[in-house]
Amino acid sequence: MTKHDKPTIFVTRRWPAEAEAALSQYFSPTFNEGDTPLSAAEMAAGFSSHDAIAPTVSDKIGADIISAGARGSGRLIANFGVGVNHIDLEAAASAGILVSNTPGVLTDATADLALTLILMLTRRAGEGERELRSGSWDGWRPTHLMGRALQGKTLGIIGMGRIGKAVAHRAALGFGMEVVFQNRSQITDKFNYSAKQLDDVDSVCRVADIVSLHCAASPQTYHVINSKSLAMMKRDACLINTARGDVVDETALAAALCESRIGGAGLDVFQGEPAINPALLSAPNTVLLPHIGSATVETRTAMGLKVVENARAFFAGDSLIDPV
Ligand code: DGY
Repeated sequence: MTKHDKPTIFVTRRWPAEAEAALSQYFSPTFNEGDTPLSAAEMAAGFSSHDAIAPTVSDKIGADIISAGARGSGRLIANFGVGVNHIDLEAAASAGILVSNTPGVLTDATADLALTLILMLTRRAGEGERELRSGSWDGWRPTHLMGRALQGKTLGIIGMGRIGKAVAHRAALGFGMEVVFQNRSQITDKFNYSAKQLDDVDSVCRVADIVSLHCAASPQTYHVINSKSLAMMKRDACLINTARGDVVDETALAAALCESRIGGAGLDVFQGEPAINPALLSAPNTVLLPHIGSATVETRTAMGLKVVENARAFFAGDSLIDPV
């Protein structure tokens, strides 16, 4: 970059128009015009020839890409998204490359989607829609597609961060649910609804009618829902995952669903996505969505604008607004 040029940013996927326009105002971006997944080699070449890279959750930014960037002109990884488990943070730190993310702006959209999954499962909406479209609906009858009410039931949150709290708030105040939660540190908030912190994940699994996952993916949370925790759940309890696929042992989950050991699962994220474990595709009582937790125009635009803010701060020589 010469003194008066705009810094260059390699953007791995297309963004909403308003966010792309904001980025172009302050930077010289290279967008992935085809908007198809890039190979590691393409990302390495892009990072090393630009001042920054703006990847997404589906781009694995490993040590090879980071060191290629560092050998070239790459200085910043400005992630479009809050979760950063796809970025090798240790490699970035040792290469002296900073990483930013986009917390806060996707809290409400993701919480709304967790509630969507809860309602789709408990009110059997996916099943009903499939039945109607297949032409097999034979009319109203008192025992047709009876689901379960949420009022008075217990929601168990694993990871009471921003999104966990937003889901709890909606479920308690909007649907009359009681809340229990697990969090690695003590939560001292005063909630204006019934909410109780329990000691561990298994304690939440034992009492909850809905278990909703909102913890970050890390070595500590890898397969935190496994055959043991699934065995603790009530037979009619449902599991909701809008966090990361790695948090759930999908093979154990599919087995629990097929053997009716739990009531159902609503999943927006998967290990190895976009590939889906075939056992989950054929498991009963599941609602499967293609990682759309943050997918509203408003939120995806706000995520892009957050990338712009962080990159502007960085290239102005200020601290990152959202350092990882
Ligand atoms: C994130 O930001 O981590 C989401 O999973 C993408 O919506």
